[in-house]
Amino acid sequence: MRHVLSVASECAPLIKTGGLADVAGALPGAMAAHGWRLRTLLPGYPVVMDALKGAREIRAETELMGGPAQLLAGEIGELELLVLDAPHLYDRSGSIYLGPDGKDWPDNPERFAALSWMAAAIASDGAAGWQPEVLHLHDWQSALAPVYLREMGASDSVGTLLTIHNIAFHGTAPAAKLKGLHLPQQGFQPDGFEYYGNISALKAGLVFADKLSTVSPTYARELLRPEFGMGLDGVLRTRRADLVGILNGIDETAWDPKTDAAIRTYKSPRKKSANRKLLIEEFGLTDTGGPLAVVISRLTEQKGLDMLLEALPAFVARGGQVALLGSGETALEQAWQEAAEAIPQVSARIGYDEALSHRMMAGGDAVVVPSRFEPCGLTQLYGLRYGTIPVVAMTGGLADTVIRANDAALAADVATGFQFFPVTAD
Ligand code: ADP
Ligand code: GLC
Repeated sequence: MRHVLSVASECAPLIKTGGLADVAGALPGAMAAHGWRLRTLLPGYPVVMDALKGAREIRAETELMGGPAQLLAGEIGELELLVLDAPHLYDRSGSIYLGPDGKDWPDNPERFAALSWMAAAIASDGAAGWQPEVLHLHDWQSALAPVYLREMGASDSVGTLLTIHNIAFHGTAPAAKLKGLHLPQQGFQPDGFEYYGNISALKAGLVFADKLSTVSPTYARELLRPEFGMGLDGVLRTRRADLVGILNGIDETAWDPKTDAAIRTYKSPRKKSANRKLLIEEFGLTDTGGPLAVVISRLTEQKGLDMLLEALPAFVARGGQVALLGSGETALEQAWQEAAEAIPQVSARIGYDEALSHRMMAGGDAVVVPSRFEPCGLTQLYGLRYGTIPVVAMTGGLADTVIRANDAALAADVATGFQFFPVTAD
C-alpha cells in the first residue's frame, strides 16, 4: 500500500457543488484497486461535522488563520476522512464558497490557506502515526500547500500533485494578506505566487507542485493556449513537461442504472420509455414525440447555456423539448425561467437536486452540454451509462469522451454521440 492525502474543498456524497466533489469522492475507491490508500482532508463545514459525529481529535492548533482549529479523523462509508474543524472559518450556513450577497466569502483566502497549511502539516509531521508519500491537491483551494511544505522543510520527502479541475478560479488575495496567510515574502514575485500585484493560490500550486495534472488530455493541451489558459497559460507552458491530462472516471456505483435508487421504474438503458414518460410529467411538459433533451448544470458563462437559450426556438420548431435543472448566476436563472414560461416545450427547475438529476439521466433522450470550455465534464459520461445520447461542444473532456457520429464512426458502429464546433447557437 502506498499512501496519499487527497485535499479537496468538496467531496461527494457529503458536500457537492460540482464535478470536483464527484471525483474527490470516487478517487479513493478507484485508487484502492491499484494499491493506493487515499485519505481525504476536508474543511469542517456544518454538514461534514454533523456526518462525522464521534470523530477522534488527532491534532490541535491554538491559532490557525484567526482562531483555534482541530484536526479530526473519522470514516464515512468507504471514505477515510481527515477534517479541519475551525469554526471561525467553516461554521456558517449557506454556500461553501459564497456569502449571502452571492460574492465570495471575504475570508476565502484564509479559509483555504488554512486547509492548505493543514495538508502540509500532515505531510510534514504525520497524523496519528500515518504519513502520506504524496499530497494530491485539487484546484486553488489546496494549492498553497506546496509553499507551506517548503517552509516546513518537508518538500523533499513528500511529493505534490496539483490537479486542475477548473482554471477559471485562481484564489487571489491582496498582497496585504501575505503575513496573515503566513506566506514567505520571497515567494511574492512573478516566478512565484505573485500575480499582477496579488497573491494567487492557484499560481502557487502551478509553480511549486512537483507534478500537475488536469482532467482530460485535450484540456491539458488547451490550457497551454491563451484562449483557454485564463492568464496562466504562460506559467503552464513553463511546466508543460510536468503536466499530464488524465481523463476523469465516474463512480460506477453511484451512477448505475441497474441499481439507482432515485429511479422509479428503471431497469435497463434500453427501456427508456417509462422513465421518459415520468420525467415529462414531472417537468409539466406535454410530449411532442420529439427528442427530450436534458441539461443538468451550474448556470455560468462556462457552460454555454445562454447559447442554448438562443437555439431554443429553432429546436422546438423541429419537435424538440428541453428539461433543464440548474442553478448559478441570477441572470441565467431568470432567463431560463422566462424561456420556460414563454415556450411550452421548455421546462426549467432552478435549484440543486441530486435525485432529480438521476431521474433526468434515466428519462432523457439526449444530454446537452454546450460548454465554452470543459476540463472534463461528467454529465455526458452519466449519459453514456444511462443510454442518454450526449450532444456536446467539441472542447476539453467533451472532445475526449464522445465518439462523434460522423460517417466513418457510424460505418464502424462506434459512434456514441454528437459534437459541434464552433460552439455557437447555430
Ligand atoms: P462542473 O464540475 O464544471 O460543474 P461536471 O459536469 O464535471 O461540471 O460536474 C457537474 C456535477 O454536478 C454532475 O455530477 C452534475 O450532475 C451535478 N450537478 C450540476 N448541477 C446540478 C443541479 N442543479 N442539481 C443536481 N446536480 C447537479
Ligand atoms: C470542474 C470542471 C469539470 C470537471 C470537474 C471534475 O468543475 O468544470 O469539467 O469534470 O471539475 O474534474
